[in-house]
Amino acid sequence: MTSETLWYANRATGAITLILFTLVVLLGIAVRLRTRLPTLPRFGTISLHRTLSLSATAFLALHIVFAVIDGYVNITVLDAVIPFIGDYQPLWLGLGTVAFDLMLAVLITSLLRQRIGHRTWRTIHWLAYASWPVALIHGIGIGTDSGTDWMTWLTISCVATVLTAAGIRTAAALRHLDPAEGVRP
Ligand code: HEM
Repeated sequence: MTSETLWYANRATGAITLILFTLVVLLGIAVRLRTRLPTLPRFGTISLHRTLSLSATAFLALHIVFAVIDGYVNITVLDAVIPFIGDYQPLWLGLGTVAFDLMLAVLITSLLRQRIGHRTWRTIHWLAYASWPVALIHGIGIGTDSGTDWMTWLTISCVATVLTAAGIRTAAALRHLDPAEGVRP
């Protein structure tokens, strides 16, 4: 593959990862609120959430591999794991790395869910909410396509989707706020 092809592949997989990641957050909230998607049973929402998170992880892995093997810029495997240490756009790339590390923590604890217990799993699962905006800012800051019409609309759609879902989630949590029972988030 030429460096130019790798660069396009890196950008394409970045955009796809952002879309999948947005859908994962949306479906995670739907699962939590026990929302049934039209034509899907409830377990369908859960398995779609799981499948899309594995797909997002696979595309993220490709996104990182394309960035590392593209010799045009100097990005090492360590830069993809340890934030803010690289030579190339350390701040924006570092935010991608932070999002990746948080996603990894969420993924690993989900795979070990039976062993670590529900409470620990759920506390760490909250990191998914934190990693989404960090990944978004990474893409806006470093991406060649930032500012193009299609990327602007993609970004606006992703932000609108997550803000709407988070708003519904917050409203549901507030409805369940009962001083006698404490918070049931
Ligand atoms: C959840 C984590 C991540 C997401 C959702 C994500 C998503 C994105 C998006 C949307 C773009 C903009 C693409 C464009 O403008 O066409 C981008 C660019 C980029 N990402 Fe990531 N990224 C993540 C993590 C990482 C990590 C860990 C690395 C480290 C190797 C990385 C390396 C890059 C590079 C080098 C670019 C610039 C591509 C260009 O020149 O336009 N990303 N990413």
